[in-house]
Formats: sequence, structure tokens, C-alpha cells
Amino acid sequence: MLTHLQLPDYEGLSRTVSEIVVEAFLRKPDLMVCMASGHSPARACDLLVEALQGKDLSGLQIIGLDEWWGMEPDNEGSCRHFFDTRLTGPLNLRPDQCHFFDGLAKDYAAEVQRMDALIAARGIDLAIVGIGMNGHIGFNEPGTPFEAGCHLAVLDDVTRSVGQKYFNAQTELEKGITIGLGHLMRAEHLVLIANGAHKADLIKRAMEGPVGPAFPASIIQLHHRATVVTDVQAGAELSRS
Ligand code: F6R
Repeated sequence: MLTHLQLPDYEGLSRTVSEIVVEAFLRKPDLMVCMASGHSPARACDLLVEALQGKDLSGLQIIGLDEWWGMEPDNEGSCRHFFDTRLTGPLNLRPDQCHFFDGLAKDYAAEVQRMDALIAARGIDLAIVGIGMNGHIGFNEPGTPFEAGCHLAVLDDVTRSVGQKYFNAQTELEKGITIGLGHLMRAEHLVLIANGAHKADLIKRAMEGPVGPAFPASIIQLHHRATVVTDVQAGAELSRS
């Protein structure tokens, strides 16, 4: 089932996403949350940290959706840096509660296997994802099969150039390691968030366009429980909101 929640602005969207995570956590204290990094979930992470203050978080598990391949964890544009500074760090989670791809791993196949095995063992209860300007989710680039497990992806030109926004200096972005669409399909609840007018056409294609690997985010139309949370601008082109 596909649900659309439209909020007046980014703050409202972020509050709604934070509330979805908190509610799920209160129902299931050993919740496994898969989180994207990037601009879309940034404020939701801040609000989530506030909302979870004082709660017993000892069972909470966070798994990072993806990482730039070859990236140092302390690079300010890395996904790992995002989590360390905005979510798992401020929440004071133990290392065994945090599961991230190592962008510097020697052997990508072993890294893929490690995360596949973790997801197979624990499952993903809640996945909070964004949408890229080419319709990607994580680094599931256009053309990725819907059944894909964790994998190392060659990034397409859009991802390489849009990705520069996370870095202070021009950075070579060639590959990314990511949780696959197949895992996201099996998540208990998939939440896709988007804000801003530049995402309006993408949200329309994801929710109302043809379903297929050419536009990875269209997978939400096949998910058993997907929620799209947008602000007014990102939802502006939808015919059924
Ligand atoms: C980041 C990630 C990416 C982003 C997407 C949107 O971990 O998985 O797929 O979610 O590129 O990025 P923002 O939110 O910065 O517009």
C-alpha cells in the first residue's frame, strides 16, 4: 500500500518522519532502522535525537543505507560522517548498535556479504530513504534490478555531479556501496522523503509513473507498505494528493 503524507514545509516533513521513527521504536524497542544520509533526512535526524532523549535506546539498531566507495569515514561528505555527527553520535549508541558500510574496505565482496548477512539475520523494520535526481534510492542507480542485494555500484553522471554538494572541494565519486532494492522491498515499512520543487517531477514519476528499474524509486508502488512524505513543493505535481 502506498500512502502520501504532504506537509506544509521541510520542518513539518521532518517532524513527521521523526514521529514515524519514534512510534515504531516505542512499539518495538529493538527496532532496526535503515537510514539514508544526505539533505532530505538531516532535520528529521536532529528532531529524532531530541525526541529520543531520556529513552532507553539499548535495543535500537541503525544501519546506514550506503557509502561512497573509497571514502574516509571522517570526510565531511561521507555518509558515515553524517551518522556520526547527526544521529548515532548524538544518540550515544554503542558501536554494536551501528552498522555502516566501510568505504575503505579492502574487499568489497566481503563488505557486501557482511551487510547482506546482517540484514538476513535481523531484517529491516523501517527504512527512511531519499530520492536522487536520477530516481535512485541509496546507490541503486537506474537499471538496478528490483531484487538486488547489497552491492557496489558504478555511479551514474547525475549522482557524481549532484553528489558534489556534500563536499567542500571537487571530489571524485566513482562508485558507491549500498543496500539493495530487494532488501528495501522486504522492509516492514519503507518511508521515502523529498522536499523542494526540484523533487516534484521525481515524486510524480516515483508514485505515478511506469514501474521498473529505469526509475528505481518507482519500486515504492510495489511495496506492501510505503509512505512518501513530502513538503508542498515536492508533492506539487501529483495528481492524486
Ligand atoms: C544518501 C542516499 C541518497 C540520497 C539521495 C537524495 O545516503 O542514499 O540516495 O538519499 O541522493 O539526496 P538528498 O537528500 O541530499 O537530496
